[in-house]
This record gives sequence, structure tokens and C-alpha cells, in this order.
Amino acid sequence: MIDENNRWLLSFYRTSEIGGALFFGQLARTTRAAGMQQALTRHFADEAQHACYWTDCLASLGAEPMRLGESYQDRYLKAAGLPANFMEVLAVTHAFERRVMGQYARHLQLEDVQPEIRQTLERIVTDERRHLLWVRHALREMERDYGADTVKQARDRFEAADELVYRQLVTEHRDRMEDLFARGREGGAS
Ligand SMILES: [Fe+2]
Ligand SMILES: [Fe+2]
Repeated sequence: MIDENNRWLLSFYRTSEIGGALFFGQLARTTRAAGMQQALTRHFADEAQHACYWTDCLASLGAEPMRLGESYQDRYLKAAGLPANFMEVLAVTHAFERRVMGQYARHLQLEDVQPEIRQTLERIVTDERRHLLWVRHALREMERDYGADTVKQARDRFEAADELVYRQLVTEHRDRMEDLFARGREGGAS
């Protein structure tokens, strides 16, 4: 069993992973970036798998996923504008992966996370760590073509958009988030 706030959070994770899978699926299909096809396709497959894990996790807890509106990525691209080139795609991805990793790590730190949820988080975090590494490495490579300053500016721009979208999200869902994370700190998350 699972309460409505946890159901919302896992559904939110699921929707974000679907957003990520669609984003990378599109990129994997269209990219001409040399040497990136393998990493992008792997990334696409991982995010699709993560959406599947959350859907299975919800099912194992007897819950259907909630249908939520825009994913995190949709909001994000609205806030920061569409990436203009492949380097900017990587900069968006880096900001997004950092946020996802931070959120999952924070969730894992709560006491009393249900075993199904903990296992799913642990499984996904291993992949997210790898995602962050390859994107960080690829961005460093891009400095050769674009210059370190341009890469830094793109990273700063997307990180600012990420911060904005995250703040909006926390404000919009204050009741659910505070309930989940405050209860967790007291060791009572269910
Ligand atoms: Fe993911
Ligand atoms: Fe990821």
C-alpha cells in the first residue's frame, strides 16, 4: 500500500523518466554528432527502463501511476529555451541529471523508505551516476570546439533555468513535498 503523496511522487519520477526517454530517443534518432550515437541510445534506453521500474514499483505497491501534466523537461525547455546546438543539449542534460541525482539521493536518505521504493531508487541511481559522468566528460570535450567560456555560459544558463523550475515545482506542490520530506526526517515516511 502507498499513500497519495508517495503515489504522486513516484508518478512524478515516472513522468520525468518518460520525458527523459523521449528527449533522448529523439536525439538518438536525429543526431549527427559523431561518436555520440552509442551513448545517446544507451541513455535513451536507460531512461525508458527507469520509467518502467517506477511503473512496476507503483504496481508492486498496489497503485496506478497518476497522469500528470508537463514533465520536468517540458517546463525546463520553456524556461531556458531550446538548446541551439549539441553542446547546449549536453548542458541541459547535465543540469537535469544533476537535479535528478540530487532528488533521488535525498529520497534515499530518508528513514523508513518502503523497501520497494528503496530498491528502485538504488537501482536507478547507479545508472544516473553513469549518466552524469558521460555528460560531464562529453561537455569537457566540447570545450575544444566551443571554448571553455561558452560551455560555462551554457551550463550556467541551464542551471539557472533548472533552479527556477525546481523552485516553482516545490512551491506548487508544497503540501505534498513538505509532508513527504518532513515526515521522512522524523522517520515516519510510509
Ligand atoms: Fe533516469
Ligand atoms: Fe539519467
